[in-house]
Order: sequence, then structure tokens, then C-alpha cells
Amino acid sequence: MSTIRFGVWALVHGSRAALQDPEEPYDASWARNRAIVLEAERLGYDCTLIAQHTINPHDPDLDELEAWTAAAALAALTSRMEIITAIKPLLYHPAVLAKMALGIEAISEGRFAINLVNAWNRPEMEGAGIPFPEHDDRYEYGTEWLTVVEQLLRGDRVSHHGQHLQIPNYRLRPTSQFRTRPRIYVGGESEPARQLVAQCGDVWFINGQDLATVSALIADVAGRPRHGAPPLKFGLSAFVIARPTAAEADANLQHLFELSAKDAAIKAQKAANTDPNSVMAAVLARTPRVGSNGGTGAGLVGDYDTVAERVAAFHRAGIETFMLQYQPFEREMARFAQEVMPRVKRLLVRAG
Ligand SMILES: Cc1cc2nc3c(=O)[nH]c(=O)nc-3n(C[C@H](O)[C@H](O)[C@H](O)COP(=O)(O)O)c2cc1C
Repeated sequence: MSTIRFGVWALVHGSRAALQDPEEPYDASWARNRAIVLEAERLGYDCTLIAQHTINPHDPDLDELEAWTAAAALAALTSRMEIITAIKPLLYHPAVLAKMALGIEAISEGRFAINLVNAWNRPEMEGAGIPFPEHDDRYEYGTEWLTVVEQLLRGDRVSHHGQHLQIPNYRLRPTSQFRTRPRIYVGGESEPARQLVAQCGDVWFINGQDLATVSALIADVAGRPRHGAPPLKFGLSAFVIARPTAAEADANLQHLFELSAKDAAIKAQKAANTDPNSVMAAVLARTPRVGSNGGTGAGLVGDYDTVAERVAAFHRAGIETFMLQYQPFEREMARFAQEVMPRVKRLLVRAG
């Protein structure tokens, strides 16, 4: 079994469960994100995921932190954590993006990773005049784009004449001094996303869902041909509510449901903006939940021992990296590190 890893979602668009929370006033600033990530590193977290949205996906009037400039700065400020940064292929030419990624790989001394995401928020693209092809066409473009990026990250000379991209003759220097290339994650659950990650990814990020569903997803994708690449690894997104007792955790979940009900108008607008063919949207509509990308749907809500046991069960099912959300973020991130992480490690040691 691979070593378990814990990460925190950067708060690029503020609170994850409810936007109107007196205990967590809206704050998506660089200063707050810097403080969270540095504190996460001190607490023992292994990685952070910086989502990429050019405009705020909940409400375009709200602030949104820019992912790639923040990633470069966090790479310089941290010393141990992996800095995973999302990228929507439609936004960047592959040569420009690969160059930026290799720059942050050098700044971080071998701790950088990209997370390829397919986009779902129509106004983010269309409002800027950027074409927004249909769901599967975006993945077709993303697959060709990632094939090129992967070679450029390795330092290969690329001569590519594809359906969407013409790159006659290109090679980037310097490459990584630390490994073959930065890691490649993919976030998306549809069939083309699964094909893409099996074909050219290193880690598949799964939306927070119950253990049986996650196990079936892992079995499906782990069984696909890898053409000589090492076995795929798996990450899970989840929103955590861990408390001394189950009753306190349930009460907090109810409290967050009540707060998130205040965002009903924003959520309705977000749903209208979402590509209806995105599998993510269907997954999230299945059961009530708080948090993004599956949120509490992963079931990490309960007393400390129960949450630790569920994390350990996901790990035994194949999840290496847990990418976590909390609210209020700073207080709950610390509580998880102090109360749940040691319990998980004890459980995994005991199980051998
Ligand atoms: C862990 C994770 C992180 C994601 N991060 C982003 C992001 O930063 N920006 C974004 O626009 N979409 C993000 N997404 C959504 C993907 O863009 C994808 O488009 C969405 O899941 C719909 O694709 P699907 O139909 O393959 O599920 C993320 C998804 C996952 C699972």
C-alpha cells in the first residue's frame, strides 16, 4: 500500500460549504491563502490543490485568486508540500503552460504538479470570447493538449501535427533537475476523463462519494491499459466534519446546511451556468451535501475515530491522496491534523 497523503484545497474562491458564515467571512485573498498553506505545511499536510477559475464560479462579483501566480509564490514560500495547480487546456497554449510548469518545478525544487480539468462554467469562457466546445470535444482537445504538454515537460523535442494543434518544432530548457517531469493529475469523472487519465495521467482525482462507488471507479480505471507507464494513483476530494462526538458532527453538518441555504440564488445561477453534460454536476446532485467536488458525500462526518476509520478504509481501497476541505477552514484544518491524522496512522500501522 502506498503512503497515505493529506492535502488542503486552497480557498481560491473563499468558503467551501457556505458563503455567508459569520465564523468565516468571505476571504479569497492571497494573504489568507498564503497563511493557510504555510500553516498546513507546519501541521503535516503533504500537498495543496489550487483550483483554476478566472472568474468566481459562484458569483462573478466575488473575488477569485489567480491559480498560477499563487502557485509560483507558494512554491517559493513552502519547503515540503506538493503544489498541485489546476489547468483548463482551453485557456493556455500547451507550450506556454509547459514552460510555466517547468518554471514552478524549478522554484519548488521538484514539488510541482498540474491538475488537468475540463471546464464546466460556461460564462468563464464565453464571457471572455474564448470558444467553449461541447463536453466530449473539450476532452478530445484536452487529450491532444496533454499529450503535447507531457512531452514538453520531459524536455522532448516536439513535432506535432494534430487535429487541433500544430507545433512544428519545439523543445523547452531547462527541464526538471529533480525527476523526469512534474506530476500530472486529472480531475473529471466522465468516460473521456477516465480514458484521458489512463492514457496520460499519473493520478486520478475522484469527487467525494461513498466507499462502494469510489472502489468501483478505482477498479474501472485501474484496469485500463497504461502503455508501459507506472500504475495509476488515486486521490479523493472530501469535506470533513470531525468532532469529539457523532452528535456534535451531525449538528455542525445541519448548521452548514442551514447556512448554505442562504446561497440558494447563487447556487441556482451556478447550476444554470454549468455544462449539463458534466458528470460532476450529476454526481453532486445525487444526495444533499456541503462542500465542493463531492464535499460531505465522502462521508467524512462523525466522531474522530469514525472519520479516521473511514479515511483508512478509503486508503485500503486505493486512495493515496486525500484533498480536504473544512469550514471554518483554519480551525478545522488544525483539528483534523491533531485529532484525525494520528488516529489514521495508528490504524494503518496496526493493520500492517
Ligand atoms: C478534484 C477536482 C478538482 C477540480 N478542479 C477544477 C478547477 O480547478 N477548475 C474547474 O473549472 N474545474 C475543476 N474540476 C471540474 C473538472 O473541470 C471537470 O470539468 C468536471 O469534473 C466535469 O467533467 P466530467 O464530466 O468529466 O466530470 C475539478 C474536478 C475535480 C474532481
